[in-house]
Amino acid sequence: MLFLATLSLLGLTAAQTVNRTLTNGWGTTPSQRHYINHTQALTVINAAIAASSVPNDIAVLDPSSQLVAFLRMDNAYLGSVDISMKKAKTVTSFNGQFPSYGLLNRSQPGGDLFGIQETNGGLVVFGGGQPIFDYDGYFIGAVGVSGGTVQQDIDTAVAAAESVGTTLTSA
Ligand SMILES: *[C@@H]1O[C@H](CO)[C@@H](O)[C@H](O)[C@H]1NC(C)=O
Ligand SMILES: *[C@@H]1O[C@H](CO)[C@@H](O)[C@H](O)[C@H]1NC(C)=O
Ligand SMILES: *[C@@H]1O[C@H](CO)[C@@H](O)[C@H](O)[C@H]1NC(C)=O
Repeated sequence: MLFLATLSLLGLTAAQTVNRTLTNGWGTTPSQRHYINHTQALTVINAAIAASSVPNDIAVLDPSSQLVAFLRMDNAYLGSVDISMKKAKTVTSFNGQFPSYGLLNRSQPGGDLFGIQETNGGLVVFGGGQPIFDYDGYFIGAVGVSGGTVQQDIDTAVAAAESVGTTLTSA
C-alpha cells in the first residue's frame, strides 16, 4: 500500500498489482536475512575501540559488502579508512570463508591467485578483516580494522567480531 501510494504521489500508476513477498532483502529485517543489524554493528565498533591499542579505522559490512557502520578513531590514519573497508570486503566477497589474510600466500608472485588483490576494485590480502558469525552460526557480516601492525589489527578485529558471535582464527 505504501509503495502504491508513493507511486501515485509521483503521478505514476502501477501497470498491475504485483504480490511482492519481500522475502530476501528489500523490505525484510536484517534478522530475517541473517544480516548484521545496526545494534550488533555498534557493539562490534565499540568492542574494536575497547580492544584497540592504537588509533584504528573500523568498518562493518553486511554479507553483500554494504557498509553498516564505520568509525575513524581520533588520529587514525586516513589511508586506513579505505584499507579497513577493503579488508572487510575481502571477507564478504568470499562469503566469510576465511579472514582477509587467507589470500596472502596464494596472491604472491608465483601463487595460483596472483593478482586477485586487483579484482573487485581492490582487495586487501593481509590481516585485519574477520568474518562475523552469529551465535546460530550464520555468516552475518565482516569487520575490517586498520591502524596498527597486522597482528594488532587481527587481534582487534577478532575481539570485535567475537562481541556479537564468533569468527575464524586461522586461514
Ligand atoms: C501474496 O503472497 C502471500 C505469500 O505467499 C500469500 O499469502 C497471499 O495470499 C498472496 N496474495 C495474493 C493477492 O495473491
Ligand atoms: C539485532 O540483532 C540482535 C541479535 O539477534 C537482536 O537481539 C536485536 O534485537 C537486533 N536489533 C534490532 C534493532 O533489530
Ligand atoms: C603462508 O605460508 C607460510 C610458509 O609456508 C606459512 O607458515 C603460513 O602459515 C601461510 N599463511 C597463510 C595465511 O596461509
